[in-house]
Amino acid sequence: MKIKDKKRLGFGAAVIVLALAAGLITAQQTPGDLTGNWVVRTLNNDGTFRTTYLNLKQEGTRITGTIRVTQFFYHITDNTGGAEGFTLNASMMDGRSERKVQYEGKLAGNELHISTRRRPQDNPTQMVAVRAPAGEGALPPRNPLPALHKVPDNGLVRTPPMGWNSWNKFAGRVDDATVRSIADAMATNGMKDAGYVYVNIDDTWEAGRDAQGNILTNKKFPDMKALADYVHRKGLKLGIYSSPGPNTCAGYEGSYGHEEQDARTYASWGIDYLKYDWCGARTLYTDDEMQAVYQIMGDALLKTKRPIVYSLCQYGRNEVWKWGADVGGNLWRTTGDIRDAWDSMTRIGFSQNELAPYARSGHWNDPDMLEIGNGAMTEMEYKLHLSLWSILAAPLLAGNDLRSMRPEILAILTNREVIAVDQDKLGKQGRQVWKSGDQEIWTRPLSGGATAIAFFNRAAEPAKITIKWTDIGISGKPRLRDLWLHQNIAWPGPEYSVTVPGHGVVMLRSSK
Ligand code: GLA
Repeated sequence: MKIKDKKRLGFGAAVIVLALAAGLITAQQTPGDLTGNWVVRTLNNDGTFRTTYLNLKQEGTRITGTIRVTQFFYHITDNTGGAEGFTLNASMMDGRSERKVQYEGKLAGNELHISTRRRPQDNPTQMVAVRAPAGEGALPPRNPLPALHKVPDNGLVRTPPMGWNSWNKFAGRVDDATVRSIADAMATNGMKDAGYVYVNIDDTWEAGRDAQGNILTNKKFPDMKALADYVHRKGLKLGIYSSPGPNTCAGYEGSYGHEEQDARTYASWGIDYLKYDWCGARTLYTDDEMQAVYQIMGDALLKTKRPIVYSLCQYGRNEVWKWGADVGGNLWRTTGDIRDAWDSMTRIGFSQNELAPYARSGHWNDPDMLEIGNGAMTEMEYKLHLSLWSILAAPLLAGNDLRSMRPEILAILTNREVIAVDQDKLGKQGRQVWKSGDQEIWTRPLSGGATAIAFFNRAAEPAKITIKWTDIGISGKPRLRDLWLHQNIAWPGPEYSVTVPGHGVVMLRSSK
């Protein structure tokens, strides 16, 4: 087509002809063609962008390509329609399960107007994509994995770590000022004295990397070293978060290909704890490869010579409890994310029985952080939460706003008698020893021949539990103490009856 023909064309077509002539549109992109690399950039509250890349190829009515969004990378499996209105279905394997997504949209001038949802019943999210340079947002090539070896024990957290983590309450809203004021609260409200020490920043502190590949903080964290110094001056320790993948779960910069460099950076800032979250690694590696992937950072942390607790977060996949310690892990998540809800907390907490043999001093099962004080459970339910986590020898990472909690919540979090169970030196995780309907008894062996005994009632109504001590492994005539009422109990004889409140717990300690 010659430019002089343009009189016979409409205005839009004329613009396209001119653009073609000016080389603005490549030969690949003919009008009405979805082919190309498209990006949606959504500004986060910290100067970084959440990006979605659609790399599309349209041949007639068929659309192929990939969609990359935060930690996920999908291949388009099928479509209907074309530039004037399309539906794309895409899928990826996430471990052993398939994850699907649907995008609907249409070409509108130089923009793609799209809406997406994961399930038909979800409310669609609307967005606008613009053209991006070819290759931008492409998934990086897969790095080779090291041969497996045993990473030496770093000697840390001989009892389960205690502290606070930003995610459950603050998610993407965590910033320097919040972390400082949380550290202030923890240092002065009795929590530090009760054993809480780690102040852990979760996802969304990251920006990109500088020209040398050094990880950068976004504007919510202007100076991580200064923040670490501040937290250390309070007698507390600072934790941080990353992913072995190119992206974290919230879509921020991960440590992929920069593991040693990031470990050195953390050490230079004065970081004491790393939570390392699988997230974007799922786009490059299978679950069977997790051990080698996690070993890279385990080695890197040791190499810094700084004591840094290594917390594995991969949702309990690939039986992590069998190899978590071998990659230098001090704790490993055993389940998906907890929510501030009775169902979520109890589903997680009561499912840990079979994992007891894998917990040991320095290497803990992690049923996720505490929701105590976040508001959607009752005080009794939060008491059960702390009791169960202590029976499980679980990390105690508070997840609420420590600056504004009610005294009743602080009292739960700082119940030293229950915390003493969690922190018992023997390092043995407790087990279920009795169950009848919604009532369960769990015990945990403690040092000095003592035993923690928790009577749990998962029903909404109060329930009376009657047992023979010998049926739950308690022999002789031990001393008994109620760890929530803080009082001794007279020996009741060979049988014991206790009424446990609905969604509640009675927790005792028996000792010689
Ligand atoms: C995952 C983890 C959470 C939290 C978020 C942050 O979901 O399991 O604990 O770290 O990522 O994006």
